Amino acid sequence: MRAVSFAIEPNPSPVAVEERSARLVDPGFGRVFTDHMATMRWSEAQGWHDGRISARQPFQIDPASAVLHYAQEIFEGLKAYRLDDGALALFRPEANARRFQRSARRMAMPELPEELFLSSIRALVRTDADWVPAQDGGSLYLRPFLIASEVFLGVKPASEYLYVVLASSAGSYWKGGTRAVSLWVSHDYSRAAIGGTGEAKCGGNYAASLVAQQEAIRRGYDQVVFLDAAERRWIEELGGMNIFFVFADGTIRTPPLTGTILPGITRDSILQLLRDEGLRVEEAPYAIDDWRADAQSGRVTESFACGTAAVVTPIGQVAGPDYAFTVGSGATGQVTQRILDRLTAIQRGRAPDPHGWLQRI
Ligand code: PLP
Ligand code: COI
Repeated sequence: MRAVSFAIEPNPSPVAVEERSARLVDPGFGRVFTDHMATMRWSEAQGWHDGRISARQPFQIDPASAVLHYAQEIFEGLKAYRLDDGALALFRPEANARRFQRSARRMAMPELPEELFLSSIRALVRTDADWVPAQDGGSLYLRPFLIASEVFLGVKPASEYLYVVLASSAGSYWKGGTRAVSLWVSHDYSRAAIGGTGEAKCGGNYAASLVAQQEAIRRGYDQVVFLDAAERRWIEELGGMNIFFVFADGTIRTPPLTGTILPGITRDSILQLLRDEGLRVEEAPYAIDDWRADAQSGRVTESFACGTAAVVTPIGQVAGPDYAFTVGSGATGQVTQRILDRLTAIQRGRAPDPHGWLQRI
């Protein structure tokens, strides 16, 4: 195979140092972008080619590009962290590379080889290292995505694709920092159904979730939680996070990967950390009625949501059309705090990393 890599073309007019520092003070999530992006193309004739790290700027796209009509698009989300010794590190990036391949298969798109995924990320992070916020909780959020760029209106898998990686300086996902969030349980809208695309990280899943999230906000809640599409009974996940339940007897449960929820890398890491501690963990269905009854009786003491962007976020209040309940004290529980601390200590290189999750760049 031809060697494929990313040629570096430095941005001739990067953001000035003072302006960059100002943007990094309180970047929030998803609004501060770095000076560069990675791009690579795929075509049937040439395979993966034309890899570059170049100035982040708008690109031209033909209005008939397939992605604009049939949403053939997938994406990923992972973070680079600055360690105490100044080095930069990625957390389980090969897991994102493999999930990107699985998402591609589901959406009939070409699979990006793991090594190309990893080298695009490493090259971009090295190039834009100055954009990683220094403060605790700061990170560089990386957003690889793949779009169908063929100019054609027929419904078929495209024969040309564009791969892009953006980097975005990030602080807390939540305005005002991490706090217990409130959830609206959607009994009307589904996120995914058996045989659908729920376990793929494709843009369409998020488009389909927005009206439910909008309803949650309109009713005064922070986030929506989805139930399964068939019985409208089993708790699945939030719009962009997996969910865990902590029981008074020490058991911890999360919904199983039945094809309709995203196999979160944070979810997987938390399961592993809990098993390492010898705790009883279950990947088992949990019904909304049981959550409500168990929270009210004290059988469930804590619940939390998790994901790359939101890390570990306690769940305080939950409501549906004719019910409302508080989980535990309504604030961050002890187990939730411990998991958040353990996970972030590994991500920051401040705790032993027995599974080799952290990859220095
Ligand atoms: N569920 C959904 C729908 C998501 O978008 C995400 C975020 O990527 C997650 C769960 C958590 O996945 P991860 O921990 O890999 O970020
Ligand atoms: C992530 O956690 O990386 C996500 O993709 C969640 C959200 C920002 C879509």
